[in-house]
Amino acid sequence: MKKIVIFASGAGSNAENIIAHFKNSNTANVVAVLTNNASAKVIERAENHGVSAFVFNKTELSDGTVSQKINALQPDLIVLAGFLLMFPKEIIENYPDKVINIHPALLPKYGGKGMYGMKVHQSVLESDDSETGITIHYVNEKYDEGAVIFQATTIVEDCTTAEEIAQKVHELEYKHFPEVIEKLITQ
Ligand code: GAR
Repeated sequence: MKKIVIFASGAGSNAENIIAHFKNSNTANVVAVLTNNASAKVIERAENHGVSAFVFNKTELSDGTVSQKINALQPDLIVLAGFLLMFPKEIIENYPDKVINIHPALLPKYGGKGMYGMKVHQSVLESDDSETGITIHYVNEKYDEGAVIFQATTIVEDCTTAEEIAQKVHELEYKHFPEVIEKLITQ
């Protein structure tokens, strides 16, 4: 059985969707959720599915504590699903091509430090873009710059609020992220 570990910082709706997707799978399941936010909703969501959640602080992310935790878990894939801190270089180096992230836009557009969640959708709303989408990519030492694995698009020309765009993007995320993870982990 392959092991997936998820990092998330907030609501965790993607994390929950991935956990649910693999719950009765014969090939893989989510063994832990790690978060830097002690009040993140993702903790409750994970525990409701019987998945352990571990909270860490910024120091533990950079001093090797989180890296040791990962080594103890021995994941086959590390999934960042709404994780908002820079991911440690040490873990990326220890797990080549095994750390992936989802970004709620069509990278390289609307990426980089500080571009996350509603900020991305607000920027799309204020642009002339007729479409946006999702990007699933490998994680490297720069925000949102790793090699692209998968993109999907959605039309936003009729959207009048960032919330509407967010909803369309979330739908794409829920549909495609578990499938892409499954492909990567079984290939
Ligand atoms: C998701 O839309 C994800 O793509 C985005 O945060 C949201 C988390 O929602 N990630 C980023 O913006 C990373 N730069 P969730 O916690 O409900 O899954």
